[in-house]
Amino acid sequence: ATPEVCDFVVFGGTGDLSLRKLLPALYRRELEGGLPEDTRIIGVSRADLDDEAYRAVVRDALASHVERSDLYDGAVDRLLSRLHHVPMEFDDLAQWHLLHGLLKDRPRVEEAVTVFYLAVAPSAFGLICDQLDEVGLVSERSRVVMEKPIGHDLASSQQVNDAVGRVFAESQVFRIDHYLGKESVQNLLVTRFANTFLEPLWNSRWVDHVQITVAESLGVGERGAYYDRAGALRDMVQNHLLQLLCLVAMEPPTYIGRETVRDEKLKVLQALKPMTPADVDRDTVRGTYGEGLVEGQPVRSYADDLGEAAPESGSTTETFVALRTEVQNWRWAGVPFYLRTGKRLPRRTSEIVVVFKAPPHHMFPHSEGSAEPNRLHIQVQPDEGMRLTMTAKEPGPGGYRLRPVSLDLSYADTFDQRSPDAYERLIMDVVKGNATLFMRRDEIEAAWSWAEPILDRWTTAPDRPRRYAAGTSGPTAATALIERDGRSWQEIE
Ligand code: BG6
Repeated sequence: ATPEVCDFVVFGGTGDLSLRKLLPALYRRELEGGLPEDTRIIGVSRADLDDEAYRAVVRDALASHVERSDLYDGAVDRLLSRLHHVPMEFDDLAQWHLLHGLLKDRPRVEEAVTVFYLAVAPSAFGLICDQLDEVGLVSERSRVVMEKPIGHDLASSQQVNDAVGRVFAESQVFRIDHYLGKESVQNLLVTRFANTFLEPLWNSRWVDHVQITVAESLGVGERGAYYDRAGALRDMVQNHLLQLLCLVAMEPPTYIGRETVRDEKLKVLQALKPMTPADVDRDTVRGTYGEGLVEGQPVRSYADDLGEAAPESGSTTETFVALRTEVQNWRWAGVPFYLRTGKRLPRRTSEIVVVFKAPPHHMFPHSEGSAEPNRLHIQVQPDEGMRLTMTAKEPGPGGYRLRPVSLDLSYADTFDQRSPDAYERLIMDVVKGNATLFMRRDEIEAAWSWAEPILDRWTTAPDRPRRYAAGTSGPTAATALIERDGRSWQEIE
């Protein structure tokens, strides 16, 4: 149940994530009357802003990041009236006492759920948690939200989790992977587990391979300083793509609950085929975008986008990854999972394609066309939906003409409702204490354990990331990676 009294404290309250994602999500909940009645939102940042000045910053941000409606002005005013700002250097205890004073000075304080949202660099997580503890702000009703990246590798993620874990119990920790908040991703669970027809086919007997693509047309924009230390494997694959893979591959949990779902996802991560250096050389391709044309517009290369953020020795960071992996268990033995993600690809699209085996026998004599393998295409974004490609007979008197056709489900056409943004759903789950769609510590660590050998090999391998022209589907080696197995990628264009 949603609590009635809530304080939402955002560390990094003037940062990009807060202004672009969190506050717009809170605005949309406000608009629909979905915030607990007595909610306050407290931004914490280094900026020397009083409440009024912070409200002005947020008002501007909302103006550029949310859609207008007749109800806009009223909802913005209501949201702004909940806002406060506490300027803070994290190591200055006096300022923590100010935050303490503010949080304790409210009606029904003993009922209040307090959410501490860490939208800052992970290196600050430990200090923030220690200070919260020191000034006595941690209770059973507090929760902490961590944004990715959680660490840079296994050891550093353990350090971050240890530091937070010294103050908060695991049940109070919410690690966001915003892909799990996307409607179409949650629908994957419903598609698999609230229907019967797929389950008998969902295994190595009938599935030939799975493709997961998260393509972006954007470049790194202003985030070069962060991105150049991360790269696509850490930024996207270790978290978002592996989470999608888990939902495709996992066994049915007994029910959809916080531990049951995460237990099953963990088993998938633990079953991922470990990569030896030779596997990395054979089964991964990394690339970096050069200049090119995206959606008709000329764009700069990654190196030029980095500008001053570029390291002196030149960058070897990948903005594109394609790889082949396997889930080594009874259900999936031998079925390749091809993953691919990149920036400056032809368009923004995230999709999962489950390709079934070809029919075992061709039985239409003198037919034209062939029975193509069935494909279940799950469109995560944009234009969420699902498409099942099958073979049909083209109408006509003369013989069999076989043609691929598709059964199409478009969310927009089927449901007369807007799909909420991932953050809207996830923020409210935190307030309610529902951690099903958040990552547990052991999942993060299993994902790092799998990713680390790839990163290690890339550090020592003689070749650098391959260059691809912006606006293309990545390096040609990525095409070769899948074609070598007699298969081909779903087109991004
Ligand atoms: C973030 C990455 O986690 O996800 C970004 O850090 C990426 O680099 C973004 O652009 C993609 O999210 P979405 O929801 O736009 O697909």
